[in-house]
Amino acid sequence: MTDLGPFIAGLPKAELHIHIEGSLEPEMMFALARRNGVSLPYASVEAVRAAYSFSNLQDFLDLYYQGMSVLIHEQDFHDLTMAYLRRAVAQNVRHTEIFFDPQGHTERGIAFKTAIDGIWRALRDGERELGITSALIMCFLRHLDEASAERTLDESMPWRDRIVGVGLDSSEKGQPPSKFQRVFARARSLGLLAVAHAGEEGPADYVKQALDLLQVVRIDHGNSALDDAALVARLAREKMSLTVCPLSNTRLCVVKDMAEHPLRRMLQAGLMATVNSDDPAYFGGYMNENFLAVQQALDLSREEIVTLAGNGFRAAFCDEATKRRYLAELDAYSLSRR
Ligand code: ADE
Ligand code: ZN
Repeated sequence: MTDLGPFIAGLPKAELHIHIEGSLEPEMMFALARRNGVSLPYASVEAVRAAYSFSNLQDFLDLYYQGMSVLIHEQDFHDLTMAYLRRAVAQNVRHTEIFFDPQGHTERGIAFKTAIDGIWRALRDGERELGITSALIMCFLRHLDEASAERTLDESMPWRDRIVGVGLDSSEKGQPPSKFQRVFARARSLGLLAVAHAGEEGPADYVKQALDLLQVVRIDHGNSALDDAALVARLAREKMSLTVCPLSNTRLCVVKDMAEHPLRRMLQAGLMATVNSDDPAYFGGYMNENFLAVQQALDLSREEIVTLAGNGFRAAFCDEATKRRYLAELDAYSLSRR
């Protein structure tokens, strides 16, 4: 089997599914805890890493929300985002669309402004200093009620021009997209694009609800859609993109073994799948590690890897000229390495 590691490393990529709070590496968690006088229930960085053994999504979310507690000041959000952007650029990520969870901060007394100002300043610094383009997507936490999501949408209005879309994340089981139909309708009426996590741990019906009730333009994960042949045909017909997260899926036991990952079946069914890192600090890898893990386990070809990277740019929310520029770069890259 040829080693596609170097090819993947040099490949121009877009990342469309990354929770910025999920890029908080244990080293930075400790540094920010010290800087802000926050106590953590771990003795060392190694102890934090050792705790990253999850049996399901909720196991992870419990640590993810606890980890966020070190993010207090605007500078913390800036440093977190800048560290992610540097890693992304080092892996040849050209464009990234970042989720953030405002309720994860406002619920513990950190102002919406503090979070968005820090993240936004880093995105601007990243574009100017590192050349990476980006967009920001505000997620609603689905374990909270719709009224809280409505308040969050209201709170975001002074920064409307910084936000390209709204998403839906956190615990999926028992939290159907239908619960957020009204707030998504209002967000769309404000010109925000809609995306939602669906079919990660939840059933295929949640993917359908995300399409029909939330009118999403991208599905985050979407794995369980494969349980419903008619839904798969519809996703292919509608060219609906899926932001697939291989290492997340194995770490959260959504997929038992990478060799059983549905990505190959998604591609065979003509679905517009993309590869993403989700929460790279918690799941053992950024973009290159995700591409490589799934490529090796499924023996994906160089052409399939190029298709996946191309889908990332095609499904991105950047303008058409930027998309064409990145796709041309990808074309040139793959041709030069034939
Ligand atoms: N929040 C952060 N990562 C998540 C995931 N993989 N699923 C749902 N919510 C999340
Ligand atoms: Zn996610």
